[in-house]
Amino acid sequence: MAAVIDTGVIQTAIGSFALGIDRLRRVESAFLYDLEGGVSGDDQSSLKMLPSYIDLPTGREEGDALALDFGGTNVRARLYHLENGTASIIGEAARPLRETDRENNICRDYTTAETSSEELFDFIADIVKEAVGGNTRKNYRLGWTFSFPARQERLDHAELITWAKEISVPGVEGQDVVRLLREALDRCGLKNVTVKAVINDTIATLIAAAYSDDKVTAATIYGTGHNTGCREMYAGESGRLAQLINLESGGFSKLMQTAYDAEVDDRSERPGTQLLEKMVSGRYLGELFTNVVSAAVRGEPGEVPPDLESRLCFTAVDMSRLLAARTAPEQFDVLAAKLAPVLGNGFSLGRAEIAALKGLAEAICRRSARLVAATLSAVIKHNSVAGEIKPQTIAFDGSVYANMPGVAPAVRWAMDELLGEDGKKIELRSLMEGSGFGAAIAALM
Ligand code: BGC
Repeated sequence: MAAVIDTGVIQTAIGSFALGIDRLRRVESAFLYDLEGGVSGDDQSSLKMLPSYIDLPTGREEGDALALDFGGTNVRARLYHLENGTASIIGEAARPLRETDRENNICRDYTTAETSSEELFDFIADIVKEAVGGNTRKNYRLGWTFSFPARQERLDHAELITWAKEISVPGVEGQDVVRLLREALDRCGLKNVTVKAVINDTIATLIAAAYSDDKVTAATIYGTGHNTGCREMYAGESGRLAQLINLESGGFSKLMQTAYDAEVDDRSERPGTQLLEKMVSGRYLGELFTNVVSAAVRGEPGEVPPDLESRLCFTAVDMSRLLAARTAPEQFDVLAAKLAPVLGNGFSLGRAEIAALKGLAEAICRRSARLVAATLSAVIKHNSVAGEIKPQTIAFDGSVYANMPGVAPAVRWAMDELLGEDGKKIELRSLMEGSGFGAAIAALM
């Protein structure tokens, strides 16, 4: 005998990920309710709605600026030259936060509780140094995209509220991350770099998109993590200046979880937080898929290892390969690459099992897209003056939106379902790398 996949378990899970129009409307209204609560300071709202102390650019910002992007997977620094509304990159360095080099037996991970805050910030400062070619004389303005919830009182100051995306480096929460970066830049001799702005990646993408499109009202990051930022439309009423608001929408919590979602949440670094993010973003989609597959594996004790889930470990990239594979043999190869080393080569995976697993990946991604669409439709409705929805653009950055087969069309479809005729007024625009570029613009504003 060999281990098999029980397709009944997969089909039931697929059913539990379905999100029909009625439930979708309920998510949209609950999100709208929290948006309104967030504006009026209601502490029952699950949206943090953090002010960013910056507004949209004019499109005339020019000069050289460094953009530092730190969001959870890679750290990237780029030196941009902006002139006449166009940008060129004149220096660049990037490195992943986690790296395994099997040949040389090196395993680096700057995301865990074993990393000190100094080690993390020295690693970041080194990348900045590489991007400027080690130049410690020329003065540079730096804009920093810091993709975590942070409380700001001004543009060049940001206190990390909590880590997200499974980062757990101690000594950073509650601290001004600009001060920590400043100290690391000083330690590596970069006194010539001035941190001018620190912004969330949603805000950076919004700024980057608005540099060349005056209809942009919101930007969504839909990749490893998930979040949306928008321009606050109600500032005039309170006499404050309009500014860009980081909703921290990944923290939206008024959602119906499946047992598989609850499992992802329980095993995460911070159970009970970032519930929407854990249902939609690339960091967690693979884990959801793994949980269902593990629950469906049947076999004798010797055939199924007790730590099946941690050994299977499907990622969002595996899911996108599965969805992109056209024929059953290609789909088999993607699945077998993960299943065979754990269940042995003799495990059984016929056409019916392959089709069920592909259907599962589709269902998890479709639900993700529909949830994101419901929150965006709520943002559009929230920002419409007297119920009138204006023609506008929503910018997207992130690997799930750009690369996961079927996700972008599913977002469009669900938004049209929710907005009806008004859906035609909404342009959804993909803007890869927008978050780095936006930080450079912010440094020049
Ligand atoms: C963070 C947000 C960020 C998003 C996308 C989330 O985990 O809390 O601040 O915008 O990821 O990177």
